[in-house]
Amino acid sequence: MPWLRALSIPHHAQSEFSSLLRDLDAQLRDPTTDRNVLVRDLLAQFLYGRSYEALHADAPIAALNCDPRNVTLEAEYYEATDPEKFARVKPLLWLWKNFDLSPGGQSATFGIAFREVLARHVFRRVGRNFKCWQHVEFSVGYNMDVGDDVVVHRHVLLDDIGGIVLHDGVSISDYANVYSHSHSVLDMPDVTLRTTVLGRRARVTYHATVLAGSVISDDAMVATGALVRGPIPPHAIAMGVPARVSRFKDRAPFEGYQVDSRRDAPDEGRKANLDFPGPTPAQTRTSEPQAAADHQRDQTPERGLEDYAPKS
Ligand SMILES: CC(C)(COP(=O)(O)OP(=O)(O)OC[C@H]1O[C@@H](n2cnc3c(N)ncnc32)[C@H](O)[C@@H]1OP(=O)(O)O)[C@@H](O)C(=O)NCCC(=O)NCCS
Repeated sequence: MPWLRALSIPHHAQSEFSSLLRDLDAQLRDPTTDRNVLVRDLLAQFLYGRSYEALHADAPIAALNCDPRNVTLEAEYYEATDPEKFARVKPLLWLWKNFDLSPGGQSATFGIAFREVLARHVFRRVGRNFKCWQHVEFSVGYNMDVGDDVVVHRHVLLDDIGGIVLHDGVSISDYANVYSHSHSVLDMPDVTLRTTVLGRRARVTYHATVLAGSVISDDAMVATGALVRGPIPPHAIAMGVPARVSRFKDRAPFEGYQVDSRRDAPDEGRKANLDFPGPTPAQTRTSEPQAAADHQRDQTPERGLEDYAPKS
């Protein structure tokens, strides 16, 4: 018995939704379409139920914020963001985020189909049956490489500034985070980009975090709440913070692997900031809890009770 039921909505609604999606896809394929105007008009309709011009006359602030040219997004500030590529996808990222706040965005039927159309025009690649639930965030979107039958659940963060590859059948559960950039502990602007790869049918489950450059092999599973910061071999179950492989799924090995961290080297990384061309500085390492405590004490000025008294 399949886990998910087949559901349908009334025919007249389905046919209006399908026609809008066909039209949207056609407009996005047309290189002469002004994506900013398209998005501005769609958001005025979806969020406020009227034309952009009517909205602007009644509520100019609401109208102005529908137009992607009047907003800035976090990734636009990154030095690593390619302004030309970003300009192309920015209106669609703005549409994606705000569509999710509308009734259509909360509907599985319309919402998932709508995002599938957007993904075709935002991602570097997307395969068949991309199923994305609401409130998923991307950094730039154009560095997403997505295979067939990939599912991304609610409130997931896909930070693709350094590249994220999701192979066929990947599943990412609610509130998980997948990163592809990291900052030096010494200098925040010293950023390294590393592509993060999730192999065929790999699963990252609820509230887990996957750090930049991790390679999660085919059929591996990241347990709820785990923090992955490296390679996870095929069929492994990685648990805890930091994640350790403590079990393997009890199943026969695959005939071949698309991603196998025992074979595939992780992305070595690219420095994103020209001001920091050298290797990222190492951190002080100690395995001695007492040494760490001594270091902490040396760094912390002695305080007496008088330091906490209210100052007059
Ligand atoms: C990994 C997972 C499957 C383990 O579940 P389980 O097999 O029922 O595990 P158990 O409860 O029998 O626990 C076995 C051991 O693992 C530990 N453990 C279980 N889940 C853990 C987790 N998420 N993190 C750290 N340790 C965990 C338990 O403490 C226990 O340790 P012990 O042997 O030292 O006592 C589960 O934690 C998990 O992540 N489920 C994800 C659910 C999912 O698929 N969500 C996505 C749907 S969209």
